[in-house]
Amino acid sequence: MKKLLTALKRCAALGAAALAIVSLQPVSAANAADSRVVGGTRATQGEFPFMVRLSMGCGGALYTQQIVLTAAHCVSGSGNNTSITATAGVVDLQSTSGRVQVRSTKVLQAPGYNGNGKDWALIKLAQPINLPTLKIATTTQYNTGTFTVAGWGAATEGGSQQRYMLKANVPFVSDAQCRAYSGYSGLIASEEICAGLPSGGVDTCQGDSGGPMFRRDSANQWIQVGIVSWGIGCARPNAPGVYTEVSTFASAIASAASSL
Ligand code: ARG
Repeated sequence: MKKLLTALKRCAALGAAALAIVSLQPVSAANAADSRVVGGTRATQGEFPFMVRLSMGCGGALYTQQIVLTAAHCVSGSGNNTSITATAGVVDLQSTSGRVQVRSTKVLQAPGYNGNGKDWALIKLAQPINLPTLKIATTTQYNTGTFTVAGWGAATEGGSQQRYMLKANVPFVSDAQCRAYSGYSGLIASEEICAGLPSGGVDTCQGDSGGPMFRRDSANQWIQVGIVSWGIGCARPNAPGVYTEVSTFASAIASAASSL
């Protein structure tokens, strides 16, 4: 377990995201290309129009039509960067109908990111994508209840990346409860939020990183409360998913976005 935890923590510090992460895991380095939500079902076309798949093997969400919010561990630093392709508008990554693909122009990794907490980054796109955006939580009021997660990551721990977007619901886990689980004592309560069932079975997984965790707000609109960050394995009992606590960084994200 020590070794696994070290690998996971190291994975979170790497820029190459899913590929690096999976290859660092003790199980199934073979499926580096595949990962999706565990215990989920297929999202329907148009259900989560703000969802983005990034070419390095991560998820993201449209913060604005020209800026994707993802995880810091999915990128390698800040600056001009035309190497990332964002795919949006489809649940089926192989469908060309409605699919929009745009290259990156710049990346902004969270200031002070060192592989521990602060796991957020922004990617500026070459052109706006004409799809709905996902607003982010600016207060802690939605950091509770049942959350939705979605992505093209592994559907089982060590499994392959998915062609079709999967979705699932996971309940909030308090910081105290989360930190008590084996492997979670390093949880940064002010910067991270946990979600999952004590019995496991439903979770995000490798390749979902950077994607949003969201819920309905008081106006019944989707609002982003988390960013897929890390976990001990995927969907194991007593091992929740850990997400960047978006409300903590909402003003930093907004000012970073206006600088791009
Ligand atoms: N670090 C992983 C990635 O880069 C995400 C892991 C999420 N794990 C979990 N058990 N919820 O794709």
